[in-house]
Amino acid sequence: MSTPYEEQTADGSPTLYHPDFAQTYHSRHGAVTEARHVFLDQGGVAERLRTGCPTRVLEVGFGLGLNCLLGADLAVSTGTDFEYTGLECRLLPRRKLAAMDYARWLQHPELARWLLDGLPEDGAQSGRIALSRQFVSLSLILGDAVCRPWSGPYEAIWLDAFSPDANPELWTTDFLAALADALAPGGCLSTYSARGAVRRALQAAGLEVHKRPGPPGKREMLVAFKSSV
Ligand SMILES: C[S@@+](CC[C@H](N)C(=O)[O-])C[C@H]1O[C@@H](n2cnc3c(N)ncnc32)[C@H](O)[C@@H]1O
Repeated sequence: MSTPYEEQTADGSPTLYHPDFAQTYHSRHGAVTEARHVFLDQGGVAERLRTGCPTRVLEVGFGLGLNCLLGADLAVSTGTDFEYTGLECRLLPRRKLAAMDYARWLQHPELARWLLDGLPEDGAQSGRIALSRQFVSLSLILGDAVCRPWSGPYEAIWLDAFSPDANPELWTTDFLAALADALAPGGCLSTYSARGAVRRALQAAGLEVHKRPGPPGKREMLVAFKSSV
């Protein structure tokens, strides 16, 4: 397994490049900008938290914990409960995550330290981690997400695997159908990918799929809703 290395992105926030996947964890056009746009804003989680709706999120790919931290930050700012479940098969060593210094992008920077303190120093590839504090509960399920280790339902699903070419097992029709099953009625799955095969698989799973403007550097992304009845 190769070691990911740091890159700066266009909005000044860092990400890592993973040589095994030949991909960065977030967009080079702005890591924080992409995370906020795709998952909090278009994914509807920001609106839910701002209007006081407790929200359960399942994320495919905990990665550097950036999306998780931005969600937790908004939960604390709004005083709304945020229950996050992250799936990850290669949790990085704590020092790699700490080097991102995402606290600089948070209204409540202490959340970054709280998260780091709860993670194993050397990373991990299996097991479970549970952390909680006021307004935020976090559960990390370490292992292959293909095994579908979640329970649900979730008001939001963040599909943030590496791309369908780099990480094909997390974009199959069967896997996307299993994610659709895990959505609560009215729930929303959001992803940075706008690929036709992904859109069709989400539609085949019974979701109402819409293209939305993508973050900087990307024309489109997808949101997919489960019927509320
Ligand atoms: C694009 S990164 C996620 C970035 C993350 N959401 C963040 O906010 O930092 C994709 C993540 O998916 C993880 N991953 C790839 N294949 C996986 C699998 N089969 N099961 C679980 N996690 C996987 C990778 O290790 C990587 O951390």
